[in-house]
Amino acid sequence: MEKLIIIDSCMREESRTRVILEAAKEVLSARYDIETIDVNAIGLPPLTPETLKERTLGKVPEEALSIAGRLASADRIVIAAPFWDMSFPAILKAFFENMSLYNVTFTDDGTTCTGICRCSKVLYITTRGMNIPTGDFRDQGSSYLQALSSLWGLGEVITVAAWNLDYMPLEKVAEKVRETAELARKISEEF
Ligand SMILES: Cc1cc2nc3c(=O)[nH]c(=O)nc-3n(C[C@H](O)[C@H](O)[C@H](O)COP(=O)(O)O)c2cc1C
Repeated sequence: MEKLIIIDSCMREESRTRVILEAAKEVLSARYDIETIDVNAIGLPPLTPETLKERTLGKVPEEALSIAGRLASADRIVIAAPFWDMSFPAILKAFFENMSLYNVTFTDDGTTCTGICRCSKVLYITTRGMNIPTGDFRDQGSSYLQALSSLWGLGEVITVAAWNLDYMPLEKVAEKVRETAELARKISEEF
């Protein structure tokens, strides 16, 4: 079975993003060996002057190195995160910073950086409070992940999102989340 890693950065117990993730997972679990990484539980800190110095000397925390190796060898990656401050929670950015390791997730060819991950498709699941459609200049979540994909060599990034959720009546929110979960299921069948 091919390997799929879920990077779960959902924050709230009642997370609407996680509802959509669970719908995708139901379909994906039939075809993939799934490992879920709980970004909050792992809580990798951002680099500091001290840890950057260590990294430059080749010292990388074992846990980070081990997760980065598994990410690099995954066939597919699913990222689920609420839309925060026009992108995603800072703890997810810190996670990516810890995973962005030379000769693990990317390398260079003497001219520029180039990705060395096995993954060929990323599914990015999010929900936004404001009326910000995917691809809008204010959506710095999907654009960031596309850029990261080009650094690590992750392939196509497919975004499944519901937006304006904080500014519609509650029954509309439920309907929108259901519709988006359905879309996530459909995309997962071909993912
Ligand atoms: C700390 C925080 C920051 C947020 N920042 C934004 C934002 O910049 N733009 C936006 O559209 N919604 C923002 N929201 C609203 C969330 O994107 C929205 O409620 C989303 O559905 C939350 O996802 P969840 O239900 O999975 O937790 C923010 C919410 C929180 C708690």
